[in-house]
Amino acid sequence: MDILGIETSCDETAAAVVENGTNILSNVVASSAEIHAETGGIIPENAARQQIKSIVPVIASALEKAKIKSEKIDAIAVTSGPGLIGSLLVGIETAKTLSLLWNKPIIPVNHLSAHIYANWLSDEKMPEFPALALVVSGGHTDIVLMKSHGKLEWIGGTRDDAAGEAFDKTARLLGLPYPGGPAISIEAEKYITKNPKMKLSFFPRPIINERNYDWSFSGLKTAVLNEVKGKKLDKEEKQKIAAEVQEAIIDVLIKKTLRAVQEYKPKSLLLAGGVAANTRLKEKFKTVIVEHTPNIDFFIPPPKLCTDNAAYIASFAYFNHSPILWQKINANPQLTITGQI
Ligand code: KG4
Ligand code: ZN
Repeated sequence: MDILGIETSCDETAAAVVENGTNILSNVVASSAEIHAETGGIIPENAARQQIKSIVPVIASALEKAKIKSEKIDAIAVTSGPGLIGSLLVGIETAKTLSLLWNKPIIPVNHLSAHIYANWLSDEKMPEFPALALVVSGGHTDIVLMKSHGKLEWIGGTRDDAAGEAFDKTARLLGLPYPGGPAISIEAEKYITKNPKMKLSFFPRPIINERNYDWSFSGLKTAVLNEVKGKKLDKEEKQKIAAEVQEAIIDVLIKKTLRAVQEYKPKSLLLAGGVAANTRLKEKFKTVIVEHTPNIDFFIPPPKLCTDNAAYIASFAYFNHSPILWQKINANPQLTITGQI
């Protein structure tokens, strides 16, 4: 079964063709990040305008790269939420048009739970259930227990800012470019390479010792603001703060996730979302998991599949297909990982 995935929830315009939910035939992503770098963050209308410009060429390119004709496509999967309303509508309206034109079913996809399916695309080995999934994206941080495809139980998440948001906002405070996550990680790496033995414990680890699976990242942003306010930081000082912030975010993510692994004893632990592209996070996760729970199968997608793309949208649709009439599909900007609106 070949599914065309379409993803336009934020500032990436993406289309992919995936065979049987696991084999990527093509995966095309056009990002408008450079435009948002100029404004220091996303202005929703600018993002939507770029979506309109890119959507048709991106889909055409995905079909061409997959060497597949529209007749051979079995279904069209499209992100229906969460995301920016203007951006979401570009993908949805395009998917509806193609569905009518090609006479193919349309499958609405929850962007957040779909992120997890990057783990079904990247390895020979498939995750086994029950699985615990930590989804760390730009706007969301959630941990869910997956008993099977489509059976997700939310066990915790952020009470305020998402982990990606914490990276983006502190990067802005440090005068680093958008998107902040990769920028912080590059600066942090420079500090860590120069000071490999230095203990990174300057910033608070909010609610790390609470016996729940919640996070809170907004205090971290305030702590960084207090640290940089009124100061003219040199290159080295910025690198040190970047390393400290990154470590604080990673430490709380790992501690709570490890506790969840110990309580729920899943067969697999899956990371997903843009922040999972962070090298330090991956390395520390691996070390901690191997040390404390060596029997669990641990999955992290390659960076290109962690950040927004349409391959995981198509994969999700394959494993959870619930085609609907094109008349019934709506954009749901506030959708949660378990499907509440
Ligand atoms: O999942 P994603 O691509 O888009 C959303 O669905 O939001 O996540 C984007 C987030 C941004 O906050 C970005 O700064 C962060 O992922 N990110 C990273 C890295 N690459 C992307 N954060 C830390 N380190 C990275 N290498
Ligand atoms: Zn995303």
